[in-house]
Amino acid sequence: MEIIKVRDYEELSQKASSYILSKVKQIESPVLGLATGSTPEGLYSQLVDEYKKGNISYKNVTTFNLDEYTNIDSTDPNSYHFFMNKHLLGHIDIPKTQINLPNGSVQDLEAECLEYDEKITRAGKIDLQILGIGVNGHIGFNEPGTPFTSRTHIVTLDESTREANSRFFSSIDEVPTHAITMGIGTIMESKEILLLVSGEQKADTLNRLLNGEVSEDFPASILHNHSKVTVIADAAACSKLA
Ligand code: F6R
Repeated sequence: MEIIKVRDYEELSQKASSYILSKVKQIESPVLGLATGSTPEGLYSQLVDEYKKGNISYKNVTTFNLDEYTNIDSTDPNSYHFFMNKHLLGHIDIPKTQINLPNGSVQDLEAECLEYDEKITRAGKIDLQILGIGVNGHIGFNEPGTPFTSRTHIVTLDESTREANSRFFSSIDEVPTHAITMGIGTIMESKEILLLVSGEQKADTLNRLLNGEVSEDFPASILHNHSKVTVIADAAACSKLA
C-alpha cells in the first residue's frame, strides 16, 4: 500500500484527479469504479473542469458505482444515481450506456446483485476503483463483519453509517435501512485501487488502517492484501498516525 500525504482537501482532489486522468489517457477503454460521499466531490468537480476546458474526453470510459440505497428511485435527490449525475456523470461526455450503478428499486434485488457482478466481469474488470472509507472502516457499504469473500449483495446499514449519512437527508428516519453494495471480493478484483481519506474525523480510522491488523472487523484492512493500492490522505487525516 502506497501512501501519498497531501496538505489539504484541495490538494487531495487535485492529486486524485491527475491520477485518474492519466489512467483515462493511458488505457484504451478504461473501466472506473466510482464512490459517492463527501470525499470524492472535489475530485469529481476537477474531472468535470478538465472536460469543460477540453483537456479530456470520457467517451471511452465505462463506470461502475460501488453502491446504491434500496427502495429509492434513481430520480430521488438522495439516490446515488442522482448524486453521480449532479457531481460528475451529468456534466461529461460519457455515453449513458457505459454508466452502471446498482438498481435499488427493482423487485428482485438478489438477481440485480448477481447481474451487477456479471456486468463487471463482462466489462473486463475494473481498471481503477476509487474508494472512500467510513469511520468504522467500511468500504462501499460493507460494514464490519462482512466476509472478505463477499460478492455484490444487499446490506442492512449500520446505525453509525445511517447517522453519518443523515446529513444528506432531512432526518435520520428518512435514511434507508438497506443498500446494495459491491462485495469486498468484488472490490478486491479491481486491478488497482485509489483510496481517498480526508479530515480529522478519519484520523483514527487511517491510523487503524495503516497500523492495525487485517480483520473482517475492519473491512478496509483487506486492502493490505491487494497488490496495487494507493492512499491519498490529507494532513488532518494523517494527524494521528502512530
Ligand atoms: C460511497 C461509499 C462509502 C463512502 C464512505 C465515506 O459510495 O461507498 O463507503 O466512501 O462512507 O463517505 P464520506 O466520503 O462521505 O466520508
